Formats: sequence, structure tokens, C-alpha cells
Amino acid sequence: MNIKEIIEKRQSNREYKPDTVEKEKIMQCIEAAHLAPSACNAQAWKFVVVDEPALIKKMAEAANSMGMNKFVAQAPVIIAVVLESANVASAIGSRIKRKDYTQIDLGIAVENICLQATDLGLGSCIVGWFNEREIRKILQIPSVKRVPLLVTLGYTENEQRVKSRKKIESIYSFNKY
Ligand SMILES: Cc1cc2nc3c(=O)[nH]c(=O)nc-3n(C[C@H](O)[C@H](O)[C@H](O)COP(=O)(O)O)c2cc1C
Repeated sequence: MNIKEIIEKRQSNREYKPDTVEKEKIMQCIEAAHLAPSACNAQAWKFVVVDEPALIKKMAEAANSMGMNKFVAQAPVIIAVVLESANVASAIGSRIKRKDYTQIDLGIAVENICLQATDLGLGSCIVGWFNEREIRKILQIPSVKRVPLLVTLGYTENEQRVKSRKKIESIYSFNKY
């Protein structure tokens, strides 16, 4: 697939087959995150890959509330994305410019994971709705650290959906707002 095809093919997959995901493919997804850009090259992230069924079960319980995210229990792999400390340059930049570059960086790295997963024939879904405290406890992540996102990975039989998006004319303009 070329980049356009991968971008089009990536979608949030909320059904997974129980098949094991090869470690090599998981590592290719981590390598894609590793190569992501970040403000001042801070790379303020750590990816905790979870493939132990007992942990997945607990994480799925922490993600399932108000009717959201029941599907997480089916995922054979969940990557917990942990926000680490930024380097000095990024932290100062964030303060001066009043924007948290590290959150932006994490989003880019996570999309790299999802695009790489797509190219490897894996389904994925970014998950932002979960009990973060519980996730920290389950994965022994220090309580001072934030866990902004989880990413589910696995083989899926989900059909390709037509993407539901705003009209393209409404999201861009040239030369003025
Ligand atoms: C930051 C972020 C958080 C998300 N959290 C969830 C979530 O908790 N549960 C879920 O099912 N999907 C979640 N999604 C997936 C979005 O619902 C999905 O990307 C969007 O509806 C567009 O659909 P598509 O990914 O299939 O193109 C999240 C996506 C992002 C980028």
C-alpha cells in the first residue's frame, strides 16, 4: 500500500479475532512510534505493551464504563501510552507558548502506530476513555505519570467503513481564515 492507501484504510477497529499478534509486528509498531517527530525531539513517551490475557482483562474493565469501550476486552494487545517528562527545551517552549507540546507529540506517535499497524494487516483503535488510575495500578506505572491514551491492536474481520467526516471545504482555507 502507498501512504494514501494506508491512511484511507486505517480505521478504528472495535472487533478483534483472538489470534496472537506476532511480536515482530508489535515491534514494528513501536519502531514507528520511535521515529515520530516531537517538539525539541523530546520523545516524552513510553509505550507499555500488554499481551498477557489476565492484564488485558483488567485493563478492559478499566476502560469499560457508561457503555463505552466494551470491545477492549477482545483486543489481544493493548499499548498503554505513558507521558514522560519533556526535555528542558520542550518544557520551556510549552510554557512560553502556552501549549503542551508533549500531548501533541503523543498524538503523532500514536497515529504512527496505527498507520504501521494498518500496513501490517492489523486493526487498531485509539482509546482515550478509561480509568487512568486503574490502568496505572494494573501496569505499575508511577502515580505521578499521566497515561493519555491506550491503543488496541489485533487482527480483525471488520469491513472497511466509509469514513464519516465533515465536508472537506469546511476544514481548510487558503491564505486567510
Ligand atoms: C484521542 C482519541 C481518543 C479516542 N478515544 C476513543 C475511545 O475511548 N473509544 C473508542 O471507541 N474510540 C475512540 N477513539 C476513536 C474515534 O472515535 C475515531 O477515531 C473517530 O470516530 C473516527 O473514526 P475512524 O478512526 O474509524 O476513522 C479515539 C480517537 C482519538 C484520536
